[in-house]
Amino acid sequence: MGWLQLHQLGLSEKNVAIIVEVTLKVGAGRTAIIGPNGAGKSTLLRLMHGLLRPSSGHLDWPQTLTQGMVFQRPVMLRTTALANIEYALKLRGFAAAECHQRALDALARVGLTGIAARQARCLSGGEQQRVALARAWALEPQVLFLDEPTASLDPGSSREVERIIHEIAAGGTRIVMTTHNLGQARRIAEEVIYLEGGRVVEQTPADAFFCQPRTTAARNFIQEETP
Ligand SMILES: Nc1ncnc2c1ncn2[C@@H]1O[C@H](COP(=O)(O)OP(=O)(O)O)[C@@H](O)[C@H]1O
Ligand SMILES: [Mg+2]
Repeated sequence: MGWLQLHQLGLSEKNVAIIVEVTLKVGAGRTAIIGPNGAGKSTLLRLMHGLLRPSSGHLDWPQTLTQGMVFQRPVMLRTTALANIEYALKLRGFAAAECHQRALDALARVGLTGIAARQARCLSGGEQQRVALARAWALEPQVLFLDEPTASLDPGSSREVERIIHEIAAGGTRIVMTTHNLGQARRIAEEVIYLEGGRVVEQTPADAFFCQPRTTAARNFIQEETP
């Protein structure tokens, strides 16, 4: 089945193909899109989330699912951490008192109650990413797209972000994330989509992908990326 289906999806910019005839079904609760730099991971994620319009092919959402997305570099408004989350809730139509309570709950869930009143843009990269996750989580999306959520973070912050992703997934939110960190894909994903040159080379359950990738391209990639 699949809760998201891509049919011959393509994206070209100025006649350069970035995503090429991608046909796949996303059915897992936690999916990782992996592949070398420039493979098209971020572009594919943006197409899935509807931030980019495909040049060819189409996407199907068999059921209507609410979506959120968190980017590699969090986009924080010039206000406090708490107000960043309250604002997102306000835009969704929640009443002021409920925005406040939900925002506090969300900050608590990412372990940042103590920085609620701090200016979001003055927080560390890891803290900003956790605020961004709290903001997305507060809206209780049924699908959350994450683009390289730990790419610019230190190991401690990365572990914390991974813990948060696991908790979001445990609450029933489907996760689709890109990462160039194979250990992270292994820790989080049930299924791996391996992308190279804008094409899906393979889509495999995570256990099988890391032990026995079906393609030479994926096998080489795993070997190169494994220290
Ligand atoms: N708006 C754009 N215009 C032209 N080229 C782009 C654009 N966005 C991405 N690209 C190119 O498409 C390829 C895939 O980019 P991206 O999706 O960011 O890859 P990844 O996330 O896997 O590193 C890269 O070669 C990149 O330079
Ligand atoms: Mg990218």
